[in-house]
Formats: sequence, structure tokens, C-alpha cells
Amino acid sequence: MNKTYYITTPIYYPSGKLHIGNTYTTVFCDALKRYKALRGYDTYYLTGMDEHGKKIETVAEERNLHPLDHVDEMAKETRALWDRMGITYDDFIRTTEKRHKTVVQKIFEQLIEQGDIYLGTYKGYYCMPCESFFTETQLGDNHTCPDCGRETSQLEEESYFLKLSKYQKRLLNYIEEHPDFITPASRKNEVVSFIKQGLNDLSVSRTTFDWGIKVISNPKHVVYVWIDALSNYISALGYNTDHDQLFQKYWHGDEVVHVTGKDIIRFHAIYWPILLMALDIPINFRLHAHGFYQAKEGKMSKSKGSVVYPDTIINQYGLDELRYFLLRELPYGGDGIFTPESFIERVNYDLANDFGNLLNRTISMINKYFDGHISRNPDETHEADQALESHIEDTIKQYKENMETFKVSEAIKGLWSLISRTNKYIDETTPWVLAKDLEQKDMLENVMFHLAESLRHIGILLTPILPDASKDLFKQLGVHEKLQSFDTLSFGLGKSFEVVKKPNPLFPRLDSEKEIEKLKSIIRGEHDEDIEPVDETNLASIDDFNKLELRVGQVLQARYHPNADKLLVLSVDTGEKQPRQIVAGIAKHYEPETLINKKLIVIVNLEPVTLRGEQSEGMLLAGSNKESMEVLTVKNLNPGDHVQ
Ligand code: ME8
Ligand code: MG
Repeated sequence: MNKTYYITTPIYYPSGKLHIGNTYTTVFCDALKRYKALRGYDTYYLTGMDEHGKKIETVAEERNLHPLDHVDEMAKETRALWDRMGITYDDFIRTTEKRHKTVVQKIFEQLIEQGDIYLGTYKGYYCMPCESFFTETQLGDNHTCPDCGRETSQLEEESYFLKLSKYQKRLLNYIEEHPDFITPASRKNEVVSFIKQGLNDLSVSRTTFDWGIKVISNPKHVVYVWIDALSNYISALGYNTDHDQLFQKYWHGDEVVHVTGKDIIRFHAIYWPILLMALDIPINFRLHAHGFYQAKEGKMSKSKGSVVYPDTIINQYGLDELRYFLLRELPYGGDGIFTPESFIERVNYDLANDFGNLLNRTISMINKYFDGHISRNPDETHEADQALESHIEDTIKQYKENMETFKVSEAIKGLWSLISRTNKYIDETTPWVLAKDLEQKDMLENVMFHLAESLRHIGILLTPILPDASKDLFKQLGVHEKLQSFDTLSFGLGKSFEVVKKPNPLFPRLDSEKEIEKLKSIIRGEHDEDIEPVDETNLASIDDFNKLELRVGQVLQARYHPNADKLLVLSVDTGEKQPRQIVAGIAKHYEPETLINKKLIVIVNLEPVTLRGEQSEGMLLAGSNKESMEVLTVKNLNPGDHVQ
């Protein structure tokens, strides 16, 4: 029986188009899965989408779609992307699927019955973009989110809680007894010190929005997105159903690996194992948390136009080019930077020059000197042979170690060191000199054989990383299918080679300067589409503008509109005798309490209107984009001050 290997990506939020960051995790897992499959493991690769939560509800609403229509569309797009990228996933779980929801509901009820989940009151601060709650002490300056720096809003509501504290000690023991549980070690230390500060019980339900899985025994609550999301790793395997063969086979199998970015370690290293303990399921998984791809100036950002989408790169340059860059450039345990410059250089130097060229030269020489056909010829050996052969052996060994320990970029580095070594072997043996001397024919064939055999090894080791290029290499070099497998990694097994007549460059060389400029302008252009042009046919005169009277107003009271869930009703001091009542469409972005005392900009000379039964005597200024909305505020001015 083959050993089993179960690997998962995070399930991504369908809140916007996936960028090269999410693509990285998915390609990384794909490479590991392909590697394990080549090593003879029975593999299962799960990915999917995390479709519930307030953020998704809001995004759908902004698109005027029912949340389900929105997530259906996103799931379709996402699967198409993974298919296009040759991702070998075995299942794609969506948290809106029935097979998932029923499992989550059962888990929740069981934990309530056991007393691991209890009903209480939640007081805290919520960051909508991060879908995370924080206690006051966790917040940054001015009540900002400690993760993303954006403003949070204060909440108080009835909520179910998961007893984390009860399991704290067991979890610490588990981490200590399983040194490979969390990698890299730096992340593990981060987790351990977080637990040692003491775990507060975790709020695991919400009553403030609907778009989620209902708690069966108390349906005004929906399950907090993280409990919902984490359960995907077992619901997709049929856990707690009468068809749980996959769960039995893979969760209780030999290796289970969760890969995530560093942003969500706490959920995977603390909440998830505790949930499993509470459910009496063996933890069994290893967690690897990788770093982030960033832009040169820091975090990739839509507004700065620095987000890069995988389609852009694939359309212009190709899939293997993207896979290579992503897997090579993110160092183990660190962050990586994508720039058009670094991308084009990697393609040119590593792929076209070092690797593509080696294959090209080798095939050309075998054609020129041996009419396309060579066999192993041990009659003559060159003094450089041994060095190359032992470099191949070392590379295989290190490659395997690296792939087993999530050091994919190190594994690739090692491969490129072998590529350089093989190029150097050509310089050492100078085949063009040997070719001039008929007596050196055997030696020349021996040299050609070493080149071809080294390339065969490179092709095999590259299979999980660049599946297309390695296939092409085997074809051009004439490597029989039986000699493409991992168990043929042994120098000399590839006894003879019949190469193609005319080599076809694997990676054509690019004109660097031109391509860098082109790529920059494509990336910029994609963001321009997000910005609507100014309507030149509808210009306002200065008089038009002066007609509006703007003043500073300070919020005295704020409440939800009783009949409209997008609206808040504010009472605002604008320096006049009476405060004004203003109805504003900002309820999806601000909890009422967070507005109290804020000083806003108010248009005070609009005709009053009644909005669903509430009078509105003015308007607020606010800015917005696809992700958020922010009301304009001032600090040092006073109610009634004029704004021009
Ligand atoms: O967190 N560089 O979903 P998400 C590298 N739904 N990887 C990146 C990245 C970057 N710049 N940006 C994102 C969620 N990622 C939850 C997960 S799992 C039970 C629920 C990758 O759409 C990385 O893997 O915000 C990160 O952990 C994940 O995308 C976050 O995806
Ligand atoms: Mg995120």
C-alpha cells in the first residue's frame, strides 16, 4: 500500500480577483503534491473558497448581487484560473455547499452539548477587511487593527464562545512534543509566545449579519467565519458523514500538510488544533506558513497600482515562467518582492541563458558530432566526469531534503547550481576541440553522454516545478518515458539518447529593457481600468460649486435606521441652535458608536428629504472604493466652521 499525502491551501475569500500572492500558495502546494506523487505517494490536494462573512455580503451588495450569485461567479473564475495554471487539485470545496454546512452545524452542536462552546456576551473591536476581532489591548494606536492598520469598530453582542483556555496546556505540550508541527521555526516561536500570554475564549458566532451558517439550536446566530472556514479541511473529506472513506484514508493517513501565508498562522496553529482536540480528532497535520510577496514599496496595493495578477504574466510570458519566478523568488521563512525587473531578469538569466541554452547547445552538438544519436561510452573518461557525477548525486540528495521540508526555493537553487555545473563541464571538456581529433571520438561521445544524462536528471527534478518545460525537455532530448521517473535518478541509467533534429528554445531570450517597460505599462494599465475617466461633458462652474454651503459638524448621536440596513441616522452639531438630523448610507462601514464625537464635513443647505420615514437635513462627504468607504473628518476645526 502506498503512503498517503494530504495537502491543502487556505480557502480564499471571493472578495476580489486573486493575485500572485494567492497564486503562490496554490502553485507551491501543487509543486509539493506533484513531488510526492512522483515519489509514489497516494496524494490528495484540496483547495477552495471561503464564501461566508460580512465582507462577502458587503462586496456582493456593492455589486447589486445576491451573495450566492457573487460567490458562484467567483468560484467559477477561480477554478478556471487553477485549471489554466495546471493545478492538480483533487477537490475544490466551497463553504456554501451543503456537504460543508451540515458538517459545520453538527460540529457546533456537538461542542455546545459537550460544554466546549457556551453562550456569553462579546465586547470587542472588529476589523472588517481582516474579518477579525480584537480586544482593546490588542489594538494599535487610535483603535486601529493590529494586522492591517485600518480603523476598527466597537461591538457588543451576544455570542457563543469556544473554550480555548481549557486546551491551552495540551496544545503547548503538543507543540513541544512535535518539533516539526509548525515551520519555519520562527513562526513556531511566535505561536508559542502568543499562547503563553494566555488564551482568551474565542467568540465563535455572530448575530449582526446573516450571510453564514446558522447555528441549528439558536438560528439568530451564524457561525463565525473562522470556525466555518477551518472545518473545510475535514468536511471536504466527508468527516462525520456516512461516506467518510476519504477522511479515514487521508486524515488518518501518513502525512497531512496545511500550507498558509504568515497572516493566518494563529488560526491554523491555535484555533484549529484546539477544535480538533475538542472533537477528539487527532491533530495529525503539519503547518507550513510562508512569507508574503510584496511590491517594491511594500505591501501590494490596488490604489498604488502594484497588485500583479497571474493572468498578466501567463498571457505575456507563459505559465512556467510564472511558476518559476514564484517558487524561486520567495525565500524560506521570508518575504519576496515582485518587480517587472526581477521577473524579466529571472526569465532571461535563469531560464533562457542558463537552462534553455544548455539544452540547446547539447542537442546541437549531438546532432553535429553524432548525427543525433549517442550511447554511453565508457571507453574514455574525462577528468571532469567525476566532479559532474558527484554534483548530480549531491543535488538529488539535497533536493529531496529540501522538498520534504518545504524549502522549494532552495531545491530550485540547487538545481540551478547543477545547471551551472553542467555548463562549466562544457568549458572544461571543450567538445569543439575534441571534435577536431578523430582519435578523441570516444571521449567526445562520453562528454555528450554526460551532458545529456545530466539534463535528464535536471528534467526529472524539474517535473514538479515546471511540468511543461520538463516534458518538452524529455521530448527534445529523446528520453524514454520509463526514464523520466524519480526512481531512475541514478547516473548512467539513461543508456542512450536520440535527440530531435532541430532544437526548439525552451525559453526564448527577451529584450530586457523593452520587456520591463512593457510589463510595467501593462500592470499600470490594468489598474487604470479601475479608475473611471472624468465626464468632460458635464462640467460644473464655480457658481455651481459656491451654491453649496459646507460646514464642520460634530456627531452627537448615531443609531441604525429602523427600516433600512444601509442607513445610519445621525444627530450632528453644526454650530446652529439645534442639532441637525442627517441620514447617511454608511451603515455597512461604520458601527454607530464609532462615529460619536467625530467631526465631519456636512452640506447644510440641501433641501430636506425624508428617507424611509426619517428626515435628513444635510449630507456628509465621504470617499469610497471597491473595498471601503471613509467619511471625511477634520481634527482641529469646530462645529460650524466653514469649508470651501
Ligand atoms: O485568509 N503573498 O483568505 P484570503 C503570498 N479565507 N501569499 C499571499 C499573499 C501575498 N502577498 N496574499 C495572500 C483567508 N496570500 C481565509 C482563509 S483558511 C481556513 C481561510 C495567500 O483570501 C496566503 O496563503 O485572505 C494567505 O494565507 C492567503 O492567501 C489568504 O487568503
Ligand atoms: Mg486576507
